Amino acid sequence: MDSYNIAVIPGDGTGPEVAREGIKVLDALAERFGFKLQYAEFDFGGDRYLKTGEVLPDSAVSELKGFDAIYLGAIGHPEVKPGILEKGILLRLRFELDQYINLRPVKLYPGVDCPLKGKGPEHIDFVVVRENTEGLYAGAGGFLKKGTPDEVAVQESVNTRKGVERCVRYAFEYCKQRNRDNKLTLCGKTNVLTYAFDLWERTFNEVAKEYPGIRADYAHVDAIAMWFVKNPEWFDVIVTDNMFGDIITDLGAMIQGGMGIAAGGNINPEGVSMFEPIGGSAPRYTGKNVINPLAAICAGGMMLEHLGQREAADVLERAVMEVTGKHIRDLGAGRMGMSTSEAGDLVADYAQKL
Ligand code: IPM
Ligand code: MN
Repeated sequence: MDSYNIAVIPGDGTGPEVAREGIKVLDALAERFGFKLQYAEFDFGGDRYLKTGEVLPDSAVSELKGFDAIYLGAIGHPEVKPGILEKGILLRLRFELDQYINLRPVKLYPGVDCPLKGKGPEHIDFVVVRENTEGLYAGAGGFLKKGTPDEVAVQESVNTRKGVERCVRYAFEYCKQRNRDNKLTLCGKTNVLTYAFDLWERTFNEVAKEYPGIRADYAHVDAIAMWFVKNPEWFDVIVTDNMFGDIITDLGAMIQGGMGIAAGGNINPEGVSMFEPIGGSAPRYTGKNVINPLAAICAGGMMLEHLGQREAADVLERAVMEVTGKHIRDLGAGRMGMSTSEAGDLVADYAQKL
């Protein structure tokens, strides 16, 4: 029997509640499809930090390397200064596990309210491949004369040929495997960021030659923001740098129905990958059993696909579509018309019988 060891980081706020529902659905699928999931829980997050002063123990990274995948609830605590947990846990794991791809599907499921007039599921189905270890996130830069009137702050975008090329290659290959519109759009800013996106564009055009079946397309990031709203149907797969990817995927999440449904994978194709709902810890709703678990459940689906359980991943997606199509229209916390655990039960139920 196929068996997988999963590290679970429930994390902060509503993270544990949504991760619990994700695991409920994963377990239902494991039973149905005859594979085994074994979980080990790690208590990284704000509470542990406030108690011990430690964000991530040094042993964590090497320990996590021993798992088949990592399943994350959410990171972010209202009593911890912004940046400490995000950088100390989420970004550190992305960097040290070299999860160089952040894969973020943007798909409008049936029944989900979309803020775009006249757009339905047939118009919104694309995937953003975000570079996940470089760019403005590399932490390059510093202060000069900090705290004085002459203060200077510099934050540089680091783009390596190797880092850009492996991301671009992943995107072309992903687009080919997806085999939908076979169109890959590079999202950049070649008219202003004439060093960073020159490297991106040259790399993109070179790799494109190896993929004659893929239409290589380019758009500036500001135009992409406009077209996500005006013509989302133009997109199939988009590849971009870390910062632009961060921004456009929040916009993407909104057009697919909001943070209640948006999932992502931090992927190291040669190592250990980490799957998460992208919405954050929503501390306001903690412990109320009202948060929408669908994003976490969908992240679980991405994990199954990554582990090679494609059939189970397909059923999970169809189960979510049954639930959005027939039961939950408003994906907002407290507005689902059912509790977090009821939503999880419902998906698990469909996952058993579809
Ligand atoms: C995301 C988040 C993170 C990011 C934050 C929490 C560091 O916004 O996963 O998109 O900027 O990457
Ligand atoms: Mn973000």
